Amino acid sequence: MRRNQLGGQIGTDPIFTPTSHTGRPPPPMTAPFGRPRLTLSTEEQALFDGQRGPTLQKTIRAVVDYGEIFGASRLIPLRGAPHHAVSWGSRGIEPLLRLYRDLADAGLRTYAPFTSNPKPMDPVHLPMDPDQLTALEGVFGFMEELERLNLELGMRSPRDWSCACYEPEMGNTPEFGDYLAWSESSAVSYVNSVIGARSNRNPIGIDMLCSILGKAPYFGLMTDRGRQATWLIDVRTSRLHQVQVLGSAIGLRVMEGIPLIVGLDRFLSRTAAISNGYFKDLGAAIAGNGGASLIHIEGVTPEAIRWGRDLLRDGFETYVVDDDEIERVHAGYPNLWRNRHGTPKRVYLGCPHLTVEQMREWARRIIDAVDAVGGSKIGIPTSLFGSPYVRSAFKARHPELADRLKELGVTIPSSCPMMWCSTPLEDAELVATNSNKTRVFTTARFFNDDVLTDLIVTGELSKGVG
Ligand code: F3S
Repeated sequence: MRRNQLGGQIGTDPIFTPTSHTGRPPPPMTAPFGRPRLTLSTEEQALFDGQRGPTLQKTIRAVVDYGEIFGASRLIPLRGAPHHAVSWGSRGIEPLLRLYRDLADAGLRTYAPFTSNPKPMDPVHLPMDPDQLTALEGVFGFMEELERLNLELGMRSPRDWSCACYEPEMGNTPEFGDYLAWSESSAVSYVNSVIGARSNRNPIGIDMLCSILGKAPYFGLMTDRGRQATWLIDVRTSRLHQVQVLGSAIGLRVMEGIPLIVGLDRFLSRTAAISNGYFKDLGAAIAGNGGASLIHIEGVTPEAIRWGRDLLRDGFETYVVDDDEIERVHAGYPNLWRNRHGTPKRVYLGCPHLTVEQMREWARRIIDAVDAVGGSKIGIPTSLFGSPYVRSAFKARHPELADRLKELGVTIPSSCPMMWCSTPLEDAELVATNSNKTRVFTTARFFNDDVLTDLIVTGELSKGVG
């Protein structure tokens, strides 16, 4: 079993397969010999030659090296605002912090204010006992430094930590055709697919370097050809299945490929699927289980609306998803709990972070289920994860639901549940989730929403589920 840098178990799923996450495999690694030279403008060449100082020189050289490995032809100016994935101040990111410090000491800032992925902990909204607090402080001892450096380098504000930064309440929402250099897989998938912006799924660190430069290598998902579909996904299910299992089935099959999904528009309106998080969760499950950071949905996503099946590249492959296939994929998820048949200790909902509508739906679902049995408290600690802006909007728009959730004991943290599950104390906890990304990267078990609702009310898994 692979162990992660935190001593937890990120990437434990035995059916998980590593990919390059760029939308295509890298060319044979012959670097530094025989690589095509990326064409630089006069101004870029001056940076490359060190005419604006050694730090900018190192920055552009690293970005150029990265681009050349993937066959980029040139650098392209970025629009929209950056979003960065490094949000955990553990020992493992010390080299990145040194890089950040060099950039800050040179007085550099990102080309526009940026947002960041969620922090690993939220002590106010996800209370911890003293042992947990001590353990977390030990693991994330560089958190304060990361926060300080982020703000020096151009982070928008100390509140702007969420992976669903494109939600309207948070407002880091690019426009169609914007070039970006993001790295968070779920966010890259969302802005590529739903908005039609153009970003590769970049490595952490490269995102910051591109943001400092205001440019990124032009290859992969930034190009028209790189955005063509290599898979036709024919959804023939009798109903709209839970999005996370459908996404996982597609991700595990297409891996690096780009899917054009047909048959989903029978069940989805674009507007509803945006507000209820369907696209967000579909893209995250596909990207988390495979490597695709762009999906086209016939009749729904902007490029599929414009170009239809002309998006399919010659020689595309086909994958048919029916009810039996969904069942097969779901049944194949491993049980990684240390006590395989134990009683779960927590329910985590919101990876990626929830939309306001998803919070409303879960609030309604939980309250109705508790009321149906005449209860006054939930049966297991349960958290709905969302950005601070979404939490505030949910409370403002649905105050009666927010108050009732609080009475029942449901918390609304702004942290990343996957990070929390991956810390030394928490990886022993039996966590239940409806997030396929949390399932893939931790020991948490995946259940469908009905099973989770029952668990939240009773504190026990329904008979026949455990
Ligand atoms: Fe977001 Fe953390 Fe999940 S960054 S997508 S909540 S793993």
